Amino acid sequence: MFVSRSLFALVSTAAALISVNAYTGRATWDSLGTTPCPVQCPPTDYGVALPVDLFPNGENCCSTVHVSYQGKNIDVTFNNLFLAGQGSFNISLSHQAFAELAPPEVGQISPVVWNL
Ligand SMILES: *[C@@H]1O[C@H](CO)[C@@H](O)[C@H](O)[C@H]1NC(C)=O
Repeated sequence: MFVSRSLFALVSTAAALISVNAYTGRATWDSLGTTPCPVQCPPTDYGVALPVDLFPNGENCCSTVHVSYQGKNIDVTFNNLFLAGQGSFNISLSHQAFAELAPPEVGQISPVVWNL
């Protein structure tokens, strides 16, 4: 009994971790329509702006965001709110972060999968 309940809890937790908060959208890096988080995060060259309507009060600001594009993966800091990305799951990466996924000249990439 104890074993099966523990196993169930473990499986449920794993399923929740995998399915929770995974979004698909487009990534740009021009920083247009972004504004800093209400809290100041540690300085980094690897930042991301996430849609403001998902985090209206800056919830989760400064946490790590995992971003994937065509088999490439980066971890960036959620340090800006994406005002222009409202109503979408689009994100705005810092120049350096974008450059890890694609040449900045392309301007935008999609589909990008991100979660935090
Ligand atoms: C999100 O990106 C798509 C392109 O993938 C674009 O068509 C759409 O307008 C963008 N939405 C916002 C709110 O910027």
